[in-house]
Amino acid sequence: MKVTIVGAGAVGATTADNLIRRNVAEELVLLDIKEGVAEGKAQDLAQSAALLGFESKILGVTNDYAATANSTVAVITSGIPRKPGMTREELIGTNAAIVKSVAENLLKYSPDIIFVVVSNPMDTMTYLALKATGVPRNRIIGMGGTLDSARFKYQLSLKLNASPADLNALVIGGHGDTTMIPLIKHATWNSVPVSQLLTEEEQAEIVQKTMVGGATLTALIGTSAWYAPGASSAAVVESIVRNQNKLFTASVYLNGEFGESDINLGVPVLINKHGWEKIIPLKLSTSEQEAFHKSAAAVRAMNQVLTE
Ligand code: NAI
Repeated sequence: MKVTIVGAGAVGATTADNLIRRNVAEELVLLDIKEGVAEGKAQDLAQSAALLGFESKILGVTNDYAATANSTVAVITSGIPRKPGMTREELIGTNAAIVKSVAENLLKYSPDIIFVVVSNPMDTMTYLALKATGVPRNRIIGMGGTLDSARFKYQLSLKLNASPADLNALVIGGHGDTTMIPLIKHATWNSVPVSQLLTEEEQAEIVQKTMVGGATLTALIGTSAWYAPGASSAAVVESIVRNQNKLFTASVYLNGEFGESDINLGVPVLINKHGWEKIIPLKLSTSEQEAFHKSAAAVRAMNQVLTE
């Protein structure tokens, strides 16, 4: 199977690194607009094969979409990342034009391709990719909730002194500092609700730290993060390529599910060789459902910028 990653920057290259280490793709193509960058990173990654023992063939190209032909999956990470103090939403002007042309170019060479959209503002970029390509909704997956859920588990693990792998916790809604909804009342530690183990104050603190998880890293590093984003993107790709049917929060096009339509928002779905399948219904409380509609309103306002 062939996987393409567009944008050989921090997140794109880290996604590639995660994929090759697990031999997820027989062929991996890195594509970037900056002359030489994808070629260089592809060679650098390929030179680790002797040490890591993987067999994936890696090719780096500058804007040559013919090289991506017959890809099963493409991860779109092209665009600009945020700097300290910026919101993900402020990236829309630059990234919308990039994501639209990238998605159209990929589709020309791989008509059955599944898109994993990472570029921010991710929910709006995913919606844009869907509208621009017209592919069935199950083939467009926005990666954001997977990362936010991993960050949520990290915060829970610190407070509970637990292994993140023993935690079940989901973040739904938009992939924005104020639009995401960490579902703390649904979170469990080996089947025990965490709300039984933590005070209301502790729960509120975890939710807050999760929501600003990305901004916290951007302030520390000076640009947005890449290790957990790359691991999250690779996990989604692996579930597609290996048909694992794993459950992730992904930004998908809603047709009435969770009471919303004509919008891409993070909800739990199964991810397999068809893309995403089966939105998993959740029993939301009144306040969680209200938060979901509020999140949708903010993302919808952002989507409207696309048509202005
Ligand atoms: P980066 O600046 O390191 O890499 C972006 C790459 O895209 C650069 O190499 C650039 O040359 C390339 N690029 C720009 N225009 C292109 C085009 N038209 N065609 C091909 N390549 C093009 O940025 P980084 O840190 O990798 O972030 C990438 C995007 O992912 C940003 O928009 C960032 O906000 C987003 N992001 C999303 C996350 C999520 O959970 N959804 C998590 C982390 C980052």
